[in-house]
Amino acid sequence: MRNSAGFTVRIASWSDDRAVLQALRRAVFIVEQHVPEDMEWDEADAVSLHVLALDAHDLPVGTGRLLPDGHVGRMAVIRERRSEGVGSAILEFLIGQARQKGLRSLQLHAQSHAIGFYARQGFVAQGGEFIEAGIPHRLMTFNW
Ligand SMILES: CC(C)(COP(=O)(O)OP(=O)(O)OC[C@H]1O[C@@H](n2cnc3c(N)ncnc32)[C@H](O)[C@@H]1OP(=O)(O)O)[C@@H](O)C(=O)NCCC(=O)NCCS
Repeated sequence: MRNSAGFTVRIASWSDDRAVLQALRRAVFIVEQHVPEDMEWDEADAVSLHVLALDAHDLPVGTGRLLPDGHVGRMAVIRERRSEGVGSAILEFLIGQARQKGLRSLQLHAQSHAIGFYARQGFVAQGGEFIEAGIPHRLMTFNW
């Protein structure tokens, strides 16, 4: 469904949409944030529910994934389209999918700079900061 800002968020398939999902994550994590390539792709991709955000022209602008155990991850919006609500729409979509699957909580490793973004959607930071892929993170959880 297209939201008021003209974006759509839909479920993506790791087999059919892999090239576009990988291009988004490559641009954001590997190129922009210097995450090592061998850390970016993992075995969870094959079993995760992936989502893809498209703009009003159906150009891909963001992605995120939900693991079967309730971990949210790989939230990425291309730099040119940030602060327009795309990230929030992706996260809301993933929360909706988790509820439909009967999950009762979500967890994620938030890059510390993005804690406020996740907190706005109800996630609560737990414990101290730790380093993952060279980037400071904190565990955040959301229960319902
Ligand atoms: C985090 C991310 C997915 C948010 O996507 P987005 O489309 O910009 O999010 P929204 O427009 O829905 O919300 C933006 C709001 O979230 C908060 N926010 C988002 N990123 C933030 C950041 N890096 N630092 C502080 N606040 C941030 C702000 O409140 C911001 O509002 P503002 O633009 O009015 O200041 C996006 O910034 C991104 O891809 N960042 C690079 C990759 C990354 O860090 N992913 C998260 C890994 S845990």
